Amino acid sequence: MNANYSATVPSNIAFIKYWGKRPNAPQWPANDSLSMTLNQLATRTSARRYQGDDHSLRLGDRMYTRNDKQLGKTFVHLDRLALRFGFTQKLQITSTNSFPMGAGIASSASGLAALTLASLMAWTDSKNWDDLERHGFDRTMLADLSRLGSGSACRSLFGGFVQWEAGPDPDSQRYASLFSDEHWALRDTVVLFSSEQKAVGSTAAHELAWSSPLFIPRLSGLPERMELVKQAVADREIQALGLWLEVEALEMHAVIMTASQPVHYLNQEALQFLADLRQARQQGEIHAYFTIDAGPNIHVIHEAGEHERLKLWLQRRMAADRLLHDSVGAGPRLDFQSE
Ligand code: PMV
Repeated sequence: MNANYSATVPSNIAFIKYWGKRPNAPQWPANDSLSMTLNQLATRTSARRYQGDDHSLRLGDRMYTRNDKQLGKTFVHLDRLALRFGFTQKLQITSTNSFPMGAGIASSASGLAALTLASLMAWTDSKNWDDLERHGFDRTMLADLSRLGSGSACRSLFGGFVQWEAGPDPDSQRYASLFSDEHWALRDTVVLFSSEQKAVGSTAAHELAWSSPLFIPRLSGLPERMELVKQAVADREIQALGLWLEVEALEMHAVIMTASQPVHYLNQEALQFLADLRQARQQGEIHAYFTIDAGPNIHVIHEAGEHERLKLWLQRRMAADRLLHDSVGAGPRLDFQSE
């Protein structure tokens, strides 16, 4: 019998960005962040125990080894978990994304969280959340471990609107779903401007944050912005939320573009799109706001009632295969098949 342990973990889009880490601590962010967990844009990862010399990894239709630079993070994470908990069993891992990898829609968040869940399920023979908890892996512990693989992965462990608090020391980081996915039917349509691998990954770019003269002023303004954004979500006020979303995304890009080694993630076409979206909003054609991660793609956040009108507006400008439509979601799902 060779059981298959699976986790389906959605990506998340940050409203208040995690940008920059504090030095000399494992994945200790410079600031608190807040995100919306998505629904369809997800990674599904399955793990089974197997007798091999090393873990085997299939992503989509390709096999990877630990020498593949592109997915080296995955093997590093498996080694980190195995070493910390003394697991020696090798795993056969199969993973599929419902979206293009490296497109700047946080495949590392859903990917590293799904890998953490599926591998720990396989190693501990856990079929569900309760089994994991009995082995010492409650949701906070799972978020802590996912975070070590990729910072933003910790927020994907929870559904709805999720806050990650940096805490007073690296071991006191906290995660909480402030509102469930039923609180507010928000949608995110991702407009793809490039599906190529990013030239500078977020790990390298995070390190550069402190070199920007805009970074410390940003940090001092964030606690107040966090309160305003939380209030807008609590009150379901799309306009108040949306205006802060745009300020926040542009400020993060300003930090990135003013670092000692500046990175320009947004291309001409994406910049023009931001201006067009704002103009259409001012003219009352659409009611939607943008946010952007460390990549070239634009997330258009809007209420469910606005979706059809926005979709028509977008489809007049973009081929349908450059649009990914999603909404707030309930968080990860686990399943188990015995064979
Ligand atoms: O999790 P990382 O190290 O890939 O950092 C990603 C950070 C952003 O996506 C740009 C913002 C965020 O909070 O998700």
